Amino acid sequence: YYGSLINPTTLTSYEASPNCLIAVSSQGNIDWIVHDVIDSLVQETLLQKGSLDAEVTVLHPGQFLMPGFIDTHTHAPQAPNLGTGYQYELLDWLEKFTFPMESKFKDVYPSIVEKFIAFGTTTCCYYGTLHLDSNKVLADIKCNMDRHCPDYYIEESSKVSVANTEAFIAYVRSLPFGPSGVPLVYPVLTPRFAISCTRPLLSSLGNLAASDHNLHIQTHISENTKEVENTKKLFPECSTYAGVYDSFGLLRHNTILAHAVHLEEQEIDLVKQRKAGISHCPTSNFNLRSGVAPIGKFLDRGVKVGLGTDVSGGFSPSMLVAMRNASIASTVVALQNNPTTSSSSSEEEGKFTNRQLSLATLLYLATLGGAEVCAMDHQIGSFAPGKSFDALIVDVRDRTQNVGLWGISDLGVNSSTSGKDALEEMLGRFVFCGDDRNISAVFVQGKLIGGTSR
Ligand code: GUN
Ligand code: FE
Repeated sequence: YYGSLINPTTLTSYEASPNCLIAVSSQGNIDWIVHDVIDSLVQETLLQKGSLDAEVTVLHPGQFLMPGFIDTHTHAPQAPNLGTGYQYELLDWLEKFTFPMESKFKDVYPSIVEKFIAFGTTTCCYYGTLHLDSNKVLADIKCNMDRHCPDYYIEESSKVSVANTEAFIAYVRSLPFGPSGVPLVYPVLTPRFAISCTRPLLSSLGNLAASDHNLHIQTHISENTKEVENTKKLFPECSTYAGVYDSFGLLRHNTILAHAVHLEEQEIDLVKQRKAGISHCPTSNFNLRSGVAPIGKFLDRGVKVGLGTDVSGGFSPSMLVAMRNASIASTVVALQNNPTTSSSSSEEEGKFTNRQLSLATLLYLATLGGAEVCAMDHQIGSFAPGKSFDALIVDVRDRTQNVGLWGISDLGVNSSTSGKDALEEMLGRFVFCGDDRNISAVFVQGKLIGGTSR
């Protein structure tokens, strides 16, 4: 591919490379990347690299390549509930809206995965339901829950729950790998949250985890104050919510903790110590009035953070919406704690605490940060030789109308800027004003699987 490229590098920086040549092998891995290749030198560069017979896709002006989004937390069976139920807070919302919908997923699964792909998500951590067969259809995650759930939506016993989980893991691991020779789908241990799991269940899941270091784990943590209160009542032997998961061996390098709105100081330290990651779900946190997670503080403490859409607590499967709400959430925190300015908090607080997250940080959280949270940053999340080509071709021009959505004929180009500056502007326009219509191609392991051009 030859054209403009956006590539996250650190929490505060990304590459914006206007004339980039990126080589992808037939297995879908990135072979090499060369920056600043002017048009007339493309052939020569290919010759030097021994890739003269390569087929070159040239991006148009107004297009750029970027890594696909990584959604670290969402619920596939809640998609039919999108946009409804926000009159309730978490525990009532689960009882009145969510459990009734999920319980219907025994036999069928609508294809919502394609929707996530259209929005540019190339890796997604789905929660399924408690039903083994429908999870096989989703080929994703088995959700465990054997108590404090309605009679019509609860597992028979912790034994059945664990047996189904083992069957599910075996099933997912038997699925064919992708072109790169690595899995396309991974099983994830999913104790729904502490409230919905008995000690025997958590203990069995902990044993399963201990026997398999590579098995991913995901759960909810400290989303809502009533939830935290109930959890502490149910597990009086643990001093904190995070301590509950930790006591069953469920906090580790590949654990994804959704929400983390109300973590205590010692819990943040524990999460950091265990190298677990946090999935920030700001849209859902606003909708269900759960609170505002102090993401800047987590980042300054060196905790891994990614973003989650949390459908249907969140009202959109689009990671662009998650990024925008992460920006607004960070602004709320900054204004609350530092009302005179959101950009100049004191130095001791660090780079991120009580500040609005920058575009670079938002990009990082939506890609490489998510990859770290999934313990898959060796394979996905950015462009680097050896990584999978999980990528988007973003097109900031509006091809469907002469005039763009907001009365601008071209979302990307401000005539006063060019090169790197123009590309950075294009990224900002896409993140804050774009949607699925601006995603013309979606690749996973090098294979075109979605986008408007397909
Ligand atoms: N906590 C337990 N289950 C859920 C769920 O489905 N959504 C959210 N947002 N929080 C939860
Ligand atoms: Fe959730």
